[in-house]
Amino acid sequence: MELTLTRPDDWHLHVRDADALAAVVPHTAQQFGRAIIMPNLQPPVTTTKQALAYRERILAAVPEGIRFTPLMTLYLTNQTTADDIIEASTSKRVQAVKLYPAGATTHSAAGVTDISKTYAVLETMEAQGLPLLVHAEVTDPQVDVFDREQVFISRHLEPLIARFPKLRVVLEHVTTREGVQFVSGAPATVAATITAHHLLLNRNAMFRGGLQPHAYCLPVLKRESHREALLTAATSGNSKFFLGSDSAPHTRERKESTCGCAGIYTAHAALELYAQAFEDAGALDRLEDFASHFGPDFYGLPRNADSITLEKQDWQVPDSYPLSGSSLVPLFAGETLHWRVKQKPLARPQTL
Ligand code: DOR
Ligand code: ZN
Repeated sequence: MELTLTRPDDWHLHVRDADALAAVVPHTAQQFGRAIIMPNLQPPVTTTKQALAYRERILAAVPEGIRFTPLMTLYLTNQTTADDIIEASTSKRVQAVKLYPAGATTHSAAGVTDISKTYAVLETMEAQGLPLLVHAEVTDPQVDVFDREQVFISRHLEPLIARFPKLRVVLEHVTTREGVQFVSGAPATVAATITAHHLLLNRNAMFRGGLQPHAYCLPVLKRESHREALLTAATSGNSKFFLGSDSAPHTRERKESTCGCAGIYTAHAALELYAQAFEDAGALDRLEDFASHFGPDFYGLPRNADSITLEKQDWQVPDSYPLSGSSLVPLFAGETLHWRVKQKPLARPQTL
């Protein structure tokens, strides 16, 4: 069996920097036409100049013969100015601005401590038509880690949307039934990305036979009823929900540690994992809209003109991939997946 789709895009992706780029960018570039690149480097990507330089480094890691466009984002801080936004929007290469509440997740220390400090910037983004991408979790230690998304929505997101009715907002990696309900009921300016891992796994995966660091991400996996709500949203045909893998590479040492960091790597098989989730839900016919149509429509970009073909074929995920002198353990390492992207033969590498 084969399934041919308009080439998809990944609307939420971490590729890191330096030598990590060569290890992870090819995985994404082989499947997706474009990807929204997260700016949580160290130091974060806070200016257009940094974003454009980062873009060049990513492009240098794209294998010969593949066309892949990184869509850049800026990291919102308390210091971001309206001028920074105007510069970003005029560059045409910066597609969005990411809001990390300070301390919410990996490399978020430079994030926003008080959203009201960013109002002038959000007003400019609203006027310029630059979308705001939100890591929607409160950092309040009093709030249970499994409730942080719902609490962020009621404390911060609802008021923000009321205050900036024309600002386009993406609730990144939605993980809860409440998040799905909020996005579904919100105006057309509000959308959400959904990861493959939140569609395929519930929180039991973190504790299966012992502590499983490679199943730890943020927002943390939730209980089964939330996974079901995400799957219903993704396969509903509602254009507010689209693909954002949140593939987040970390070395094995950083994951298998006394203080392991958050992030699940899925770029090695991103589309295959989504295909599995959609097939399990009996909704393969909805995959193309979710993966290839609704994202560009929301961002006001053209859909990709070429296509990609998936075939039903078992293959075994490698135990690891090389990463920065160490290794990277991908989701479902060593396990069998049932869908595989048919790769077009690459153009022959140039010989000197
Ligand atoms: O699991 C995650 N990993 N969640 C995030 O929000 C950040 C990401 C990362 O950068 O590793
Ligand atoms: Zn992310």
